[in-house]
Amino acid sequence: MKTVSLTIDGKKVKAPEGEKVLWAALDNGIYIPHLCARHDNSAPDASCRLCWVEIEGRLKPVTACTEPVAEGMVVNTRGAAALRLARTALELLLASNEVDCANCAKSGACQLQRIAAHLRVSLKSRRFKQIPRNLPVDSSSPLLIYDPNKCVLCGQCVWICRKQLGIGALGFAHRGFNRRMTTFADQPIGKSPCRECRECVNICPTGALCFK
Ligand code: FES
Repeated sequence: MKTVSLTIDGKKVKAPEGEKVLWAALDNGIYIPHLCARHDNSAPDASCRLCWVEIEGRLKPVTACTEPVAEGMVVNTRGAAALRLARTALELLLASNEVDCANCAKSGACQLQRIAAHLRVSLKSRRFKQIPRNLPVDSSSPLLIYDPNKCVLCGQCVWICRKQLGIGALGFAHRGFNRRMTTFADQPIGKSPCRECRECVNICPTGALCFK
C-alpha cells in the first residue's frame, strides 16, 4: 500500500494513503480527543466535534476523523483555534451529562475523563448552563445497566450492535436535545432483541453502559 509522509505536532510520520489524520496521529502516539470515530468505519459521521486539528495552509480547523492525510501535510493538534473548538464541544457535552465519577463503574477508564484532562477542562465545568436530562435508568437487562444521563451519543454501541454484529437491538430516537440511544419502540433493553453479547458495554466510552 502506498504511504504518504506528513508532520504532526512537529513529528514526521508515515501513514497509508487515504488514512484519516486521526488514526495517523493515534498510530504514532499522538493523542487527539475523539468519541464517535471508529477505525473500521470509513464514513465517520463526525458528531462529537472533539477531534479538531489545524492544518498548515487552511483557514479553519478541520475534524481529524474526516480529513485524509496528504503528502507533506503539516498538522497541529495543539493550535489555539482547534483547542477552543474542542473545549467548547466538551463543555457543551458536559452541560447535559451526569458526571458522578466517584460512583461510576467506568471511572478510570472513562474517555470523558481522559479528554477533559487532555483539554484541561474541568468535568464540573459550568461555562454553559446545566440542563440535566433526568432520564430513567434502564436496569431491565440481567447483564447490564443503561444510564442515558451518562450517554455522550457517540453511537459506538449502535454501530457495533447493528453494523458489526447484525443484531440491531440498539438505535437512536428523537432529535436535538432529546436525542438518545434506545431500543426499537423504546422498549427496556431486557425486552429488546439484545443477546447479551457484552460488546456494547465494552465499547461504551463512558459509564452509560455498565455491567451489573
Ligand atoms: S471523532 Fe471526529 S467528530 Fe467525533
